[in-house]
Amino acid sequence: ESHSEETLYRPNYHFTPKKNWMNDPNGMFYYNGYYHLYFQYHPDSNVWGPMHWGHAVSTDMITWRELPIAIYPDELGTIFSGSAVVDIGNTSGFGKVENSAPIVAMYTSSKQLEGKDNWKQTQSIAFSNDEGKTFTKYENNPVIDNNELKDFRDPKVSWDEERSRWMMVLAAGDRIMFYESKDLKAWNYLSDFGRGIGGHGGVWECPDFFKLPVNGSDETKWVLFVSINPGGPNGGSATQYFIGDFDGTQFTMDDEFSKALNEEHTYWIDFGKDNYAGVSWSNARTKDGSKLMIGWMSNWQYAQAVPTETWRSAMTVARKVQLQKNERGFRLISNPVREIENYRGKKVKKENVLIANETKIIDSETIDLSSVEIAFNISNLNQEGGCTFKLSNKAGDELLFGYNNAKKLFFIDRSKSGKVNFSKDFANKISLAPRTSANQNLSGRILLDKTSIELFFDNGESVMTEIFFPNTPFNQLSIKPTNQEFNLDYIEVNQLNFN
Ligand code: FRU
Repeated sequence: ESHSEETLYRPNYHFTPKKNWMNDPNGMFYYNGYYHLYFQYHPDSNVWGPMHWGHAVSTDMITWRELPIAIYPDELGTIFSGSAVVDIGNTSGFGKVENSAPIVAMYTSSKQLEGKDNWKQTQSIAFSNDEGKTFTKYENNPVIDNNELKDFRDPKVSWDEERSRWMMVLAAGDRIMFYESKDLKAWNYLSDFGRGIGGHGGVWECPDFFKLPVNGSDETKWVLFVSINPGGPNGGSATQYFIGDFDGTQFTMDDEFSKALNEEHTYWIDFGKDNYAGVSWSNARTKDGSKLMIGWMSNWQYAQAVPTETWRSAMTVARKVQLQKNERGFRLISNPVREIENYRGKKVKKENVLIANETKIIDSETIDLSSVEIAFNISNLNQEGGCTFKLSNKAGDELLFGYNNAKKLFFIDRSKSGKVNFSKDFANKISLAPRTSANQNLSGRILLDKTSIELFFDNGESVMTEIFFPNTPFNQLSIKPTNQEFNLDYIEVNQLNFN
């Protein structure tokens, strides 16, 4: 059983812990050639339990090497989500090693009190003088105490360039709280944001706050990520975002953004059911000022019941996040990091194929469909038209995804994708994403692994990520039209090789 689980379900290129339970990505930072990824980890079982920070490193955010657990629970509680920064200026005074900056992690100490669902959540810090391998807890923890709020967690720290100070955002139930610090130890409360704004179908969690340049202009805007569970657009967990300005104390939404949000809340990082609690890498500089992020590729609705026993959960592919503004206003766009392209091997490209009925594109005789990156472009879809991609296998499982132009909706239907009955919330619904682009052509990129699909439509404007568990690997990809024939300008299927 565990052997077949390894071959059938262990992803080819998405990070999974070797053993047991994982949820949120935590504390990502870049330093000295390495991208670090910590994660909510329960080393003793395959369901959620007392949280530790597991650890993995990569030189390219694609291939990961798991390292020993970095932070263990202590008398203040278990180690919930948080962040880590490279304290280049040694503002904390924790640095002891010449030519090596201390890494400072800030996380939530979560201590269970009498009674179910009753926690004391405070914020603590720990530092590392070996570039993130091992951490020492600060002797005066917690650095932010709390005796009132039930939900008070997930601190995300960043360096505020303009004001030469640290900033931190954390989630407090129905709002985000903003803090500042000079030394990462003493924190001053600044303001809050969010009551009555955006999605509130569940508790707010795992915020992130950073500045992004607006593509093709000199303008910059502040972006606030807020994960919410439940209350996502297709049920359960999902991450929404807000665009605005920051005066050093208070975040306010951009007027146009706020208007658009009130009319229709379409501001989600990902509309698929399986991308949660994503936050950005600190200290990772990109040429274009974009941010790098990664998310947890599951959903609290069923994460603890998915049909893998040895490990539970994977991370999404690392993504680059940018901000664009067009006639329809601000929109975040995300795409796989460029590094994935270094793994391309065999390529099959088809051009100018008229799709009049269901047409096979490729099968596993030519390319292994459990490790591919696909790009396509379709022109002249008419108003009633649409396209459905179908992944299928010999067991009769199908995964359907595509676009319906009459409704202007993207979709993923995994209801017949294999093992689905472990949770009613896994299979009972087709996931939908509104199309926000005014583009005439429909373009997309598709990343496939053994148990996941990541769709980036319209250059990353509409994103959908979902997991699935086929009875045997999917070995054929076809495409069929709805209500019309259309021209598939090109489809390019790249094998990804990971040895
Ligand atoms: C989000 C979350 C965080 C919390 C962590 C606990 O998935 O609920 O708010 O810190 O998981 O593992």
